[in-house]
This record gives sequence, C-alpha cells and structure tokens, in this order.
Amino acid sequence: MKHLIDIKDLTVEEIDELIKVAKDIMQFPDKYSEKCKHKKLATLFFEPSTRTRLSFESAMMELGGNVIGFSEASSSSTAKGESVSDTIRVVGGYADIIAMRHPKEGAPLVASIKSTIPIINAGDGGHNHPTQTLTDLLTIACEKNRLDNLTIGLCGDLKFGRTVHSLITAMVRYKNIKFVLISPEELKIPDYIKEEVLDKNRIEYIETNDIEEHMEKLDILYMTRVQKERFFNEEDYVRLKDYYILNKSKLEKAKADLAILHPLPRVNEISTEVDDDPRACYFKQARYGKYIRMALILKLLEIK
Ligand code: CP
Repeated sequence: MKHLIDIKDLTVEEIDELIKVAKDIMQFPDKYSEKCKHKKLATLFFEPSTRTRLSFESAMMELGGNVIGFSEASSSSTAKGESVSDTIRVVGGYADIIAMRHPKEGAPLVASIKSTIPIINAGDGGHNHPTQTLTDLLTIACEKNRLDNLTIGLCGDLKFGRTVHSLITAMVRYKNIKFVLISPEELKIPDYIKEEVLDKNRIEYIETNDIEEHMEKLDILYMTRVQKERFFNEEDYVRLKDYYILNKSKLEKAKADLAILHPLPRVNEISTEVDDDPRACYFKQARYGKYIRMALILKLLEIK
C-alpha cells in the first residue's frame, strides 16, 4: 500500500504520469466519472482549509465516489482526547482512502504507520503540503509547457510556508532550475532546506529581500502569505504581514510570459489589480488542484 506523506514519496516518473492523467481527465472527464464508484474518501481536517478539502471532495465526487469526514478537530472525538492513531484505525473501517490535514508536523506520517488504507498528507504544520506541490507542478506544466529550464522566484514567508518547502524539494529534480528566494530576514528559508535540498543538489539560488531586484529574470513568481497561525508573537506578524504587496508597478520589468502563482488563500500580498493580468494564474492553479487530486486518488487506489 502506498501513502503520500512527502513529495519525495513520488519519483519524477510517477509525477509525470500523474500530470499526464490529470491532463487526460481535464480533456475527457466522462471517461473517469465512474472510476471510483462504491469507493469512499475520508477528509480528516484538524486545521482549516477551503481549497484542499473541497477540491479533494469534489475530485472524489467527479470520480463517482463518496465522501465522509470532518472539517475541524472540535467536531470529532479528538475534542474528547482521542489520539490520531486511534482515529485513523477507526476510519480505516469506514473509508478506502484518507486525506488528512493536521497542525502538527509529522502527524500524517504517524497516521500512515497505523493505517490499513492509503493516507494523503493534506498539509502538516509548517512542514509539507505534497498535494499543493502536485497542483503547482500541474499548473507550471500547463502554463509553461515544461518543468525544466526555469527561474523561479519564491516570495514571502519562506520560513513557515510549507508549500514553498515542498515545491523546492520537487523542482530540484528537474534540469536547470534556479531560485530567487525573496523574503524579509526573519522569514528566510530554513537552513535544512538550503543544506539538504538546495546545496546537496547543487542548485543555483539568490537570497534577497527586494521583490523587484531580479524580477526581469523570473519565469515564475510564486507569492505566499505570511503564515499568521505559525507565529508565536502577534507583534512580529503585524510588522511582517504586509512586507510584500505585488501590484502592477512592481511587475513593470517582468517577462511577458511570467506565470504568477500563489497557493492561496491570499491576504494582502497580491493586489487585486493584478487579478486581470493575463500572467496571474492563481485562480486557475486552484482549479488544477482538483484534477491532480483526481489522478492521485486513482493512483493510490490502484485504479487504471
Ligand atoms: N492552498 C491551500 O492549501 O489552501 P487551503 O488552506 O484553503 O486548503
């Protein structure tokens, strides 16, 4: 049985196959409408979500399956003190596959050890968010027609942004990828990502706190929200939350075919005046999320 806890659980070939299937689903949705008939997805969300939970649920429904689950820990027996391991063992008797989000780093990994059915990590604390990464990869593949030879600007909260950590880990496996890491000093990328992922794979990267400094080089600009829920101190959050606000004037030197991505939700970091720019891909990106999750459900349930 296979789980998806970390993007590294998938080989590049498996990712390429998922992207191929997702594109096929987009083109021929009817072919897939009964693939998961009589199958159930459990969405166990111990932390808030809009896109991840609803796109998983929509994905399973469009595959002809059903969905059970909860959207907050307080409406489950976690509120009575039940452990994650016990919850997972029980839900394994009710569903065929689980998508789980948890505020504690490593919780989905612990769950996978006890589980009798496949577990998908739908985000664990500030650690990983592999299905957002698959969404990002499908978006890049569709919008740029390639996953190699790209200069990617990552901007905002690079310290707590789990989507950034997973995306870097995935992209270093493709050829000629360069990063521009744009963040305030306090929200720089963690050392373990620099040492174990960037340096180990001999990836070229620049760190800066100026969003405009390298704008003309970028093929992709991946904006992120300052992760309020991961701060220990409200004062620091208030000081940093509006550090970057991408607007039309900041894009003056950007390439005509730049793709602007954001995992969403957005707070202030992209001005709404950018939404109509043809380079703004973030709402399309949220839609791509449903198709790649459909492909992933099929893969983990071993449905051809
Ligand atoms: N991108 C993302 O994970 O969004 P949600 O928190 O709404 O699921």
